Amino acid sequence: MDTFYIKGGNTLNGSVFIPSAKNALLPILAGSIMCDGKVYIKNCSKFSDVKYMIKILEELGAKTNYEQNDLVIDSSKAKKFYVPEEYTKKVRSSIFMLGPLITRFGFAKVAYPGGCNIGTRPIDLHIKGLKALNVKIEEKHGYIYCDARNITAGEVHLDFPSVGATENIIMASVLTKGITRIYNAAKEPEIEDLQNFINAMGGKVKGAGTSTIEIEGVKKLHDVYYAPMSDRIISGTYLIACAATGGKIELTNAISEHNTALISKLKQSGCKVSVKSDKIILEASHKLKSIPKIETLPYPGFPTDLQSQMLTLQTISKGTSVIIENLFETRFKIYTELTKMGANIIIKDRMALIHGVKNLFGASVTAPDLRSGAGLVIAGLCADGYTIINDIYHIDRGYLKIEEDLQKLGAEIKRE
Ligand code: EPZ
Repeated sequence: MDTFYIKGGNTLNGSVFIPSAKNALLPILAGSIMCDGKVYIKNCSKFSDVKYMIKILEELGAKTNYEQNDLVIDSSKAKKFYVPEEYTKKVRSSIFMLGPLITRFGFAKVAYPGGCNIGTRPIDLHIKGLKALNVKIEEKHGYIYCDARNITAGEVHLDFPSVGATENIIMASVLTKGITRIYNAAKEPEIEDLQNFINAMGGKVKGAGTSTIEIEGVKKLHDVYYAPMSDRIISGTYLIACAATGGKIELTNAISEHNTALISKLKQSGCKVSVKSDKIILEASHKLKSIPKIETLPYPGFPTDLQSQMLTLQTISKGTSVIIENLFETRFKIYTELTKMGANIIIKDRMALIHGVKNLFGASVTAPDLRSGAGLVIAGLCADGYTIINDIYHIDRGYLKIEEDLQKLGAEIKRE
């Protein structure tokens, strides 16, 4: 199992390129099975979650290969609609296969999904939404069986703007005759990317990015060459890292509009942030002020996927901060590891109270999940002394060799 060794204390300076987004790629990969032809995905980042999704597509009979950085998926010979547990337990995004398999084959049999242990991760909204479209669903022996031979267009009202449920219902409706509407849909940018991808294949989806999405069924989808959006969570992670260590970094291929909530918080803490076209520049030249309150909310609120990284920043900021995690019930797992590094944090249910300390000190810690692992990297970068981070396979699910990007920016970090 790989481990990170970090010598803290260096400031971060320089420029880094932001790759295509994990949470845009995963539904797009799932959606590629809807086209019985070829799908080309430009600059398809090789996150481990992406590799698992590619394995699922190959299990279903699709052929995939990389041409340089572009992934080519040929689903013309795909014929299976059964995704076994050995594949689904590794990635939450396996649940996104329901919609595309329904659209391609009229049937789906998918084992319950796995993914980060940040909460119970129910799928009731996915199931309820598909049932509203007359999909017959049975859940037994750990599998979800869908019979969509009589699927109809219709109206789905989501009790919560779930990203995955919104994406699944969109994909289940792409070839269904008539108009399907989703109310209280999630508004994350990754959903707009999925809409653009589906429309580039000949689909008719509109309204993504708002809370009402309309899908008009079409007869067929055609081959497509698509370039997904860049990863706003990787962008945010690097901005927070530089805020923590001090220095000046430039992100290229970054979409600043996707990070307005974070940027406003970082400015509030004393960072200088400027944006121009696809660049975000952050400068942190002195100890930052604590941010009194950070509350995670569905987009465009503060993203839950940057909560652990922001919590780390607050442990060394001047003052007191309260972080409220509204999306996932157990997303404070980083707390125990940061405490080992000298952080002063009190957790109560979904609330963290953080009193800033002068500095953290290096320690041996273990990444509990993807984003808290990223938070621990930030902690190691700004701590006094050496930090060892175990179980970094969690981090590789959503970052492309994070150590190489950080080395480019002047960090002393190595993988062994
Ligand atoms: C997506 O997960 C992302 N993953 C997550 O990123 C992200 O944290 C999350 O959206 C919120 O933005 C991918 O896109 C692959 P949800 P998803 O359905 O779709 C509840 C990362 O680190 N809910 O929007 O699973 C759920 O419990 C990952 O990259 C139900 O109650 O998130 C949670 O409280 C982590 N019933 C809330 O909705 C359901 O059927 C948000 O979940 C579905 C969800």
